[in-house]
Amino acid sequence: MSKQPIGIFDSGVGGTSIWRELKLLLPHENTLYLADSKNAPYGEKTKDEIVALSKKNIDLLLSKDSKLIVVACNTATTNAIAILRDSYSIPIIGIEPAIKPAALQTKTKAIGILATKGTLSSRLFHDTSDLYTNGIKVIEQVGEGLVQLIESGKINSEEMSSLLKVYIEPMLDANIDYLVLGCTHYPYLMPQLLEILPKHIKIIDSGEAVAKQTLSVLKQNQILNSSKQQPKFQFFSNGDLEVLTSLVGEKHSIEYLDF
Ligand code: DGL
Repeated sequence: MSKQPIGIFDSGVGGTSIWRELKLLLPHENTLYLADSKNAPYGEKTKDEIVALSKKNIDLLLSKDSKLIVVACNTATTNAIAILRDSYSIPIIGIEPAIKPAALQTKTKAIGILATKGTLSSRLFHDTSDLYTNGIKVIEQVGEGLVQLIESGKINSEEMSSLLKVYIEPMLDANIDYLVLGCTHYPYLMPQLLEILPKHIKIIDSGEAVAKQTLSVLKQNQILNSSKQQPKFQFFSNGDLEVLTSLVGEKHSIEYLDF
């Protein structure tokens, strides 16, 4: 079983930022990645729709022999993870905005969070936020339009920079010292964000934490791949392959699949 792949899915190409972290920490694991780009953005959908899409993705990953699932999408995690864990018997790892580390480390007592509407309106996000941000000002901002621009390959566009400036401004006014990226697409916006944000503001995401959690669950379940062979990375998308290819590189197997 340990040689079976880790199954990863996202509403599109963003979860490849998590795949990168997994690859760094778990260099011998085979991976299968599903980019459900046809249905992006999940952030604008209802909870029921997000649950149904997540199940569709997991069913496909299981049919391809995944040994563990990584939900590389904050929106799917915050809306569906409990239902998914109830519905499947294999381990499922989720990703949530890194509110806790930001809240514990802020000196200005103000943090910003950029995420999708689906994540920011979820119960799970609010429960976590309430738990850790007592006495801290949390500036929540929906990143409307950002996922669509990334999905259409417009990461470095003028449109992207203008949107980001508008979204960040209220956070600067509130004197944040931490910006939490609560969507797996957003780490790809790092170059623009670094240009817009003053140097003292730290940007954090949950990618590394997800990789660490995956390692620990693989060990616990004794399904860590002990083979030292070159791993196989397979990507499937039901949308445009060009953007996905530009993000993960041409040397991997990237296929169109209607799912
Ligand atoms: N990458 C997804 C996330 O982390 C984007 C969700 C969307 O498609 O709106 O939330």
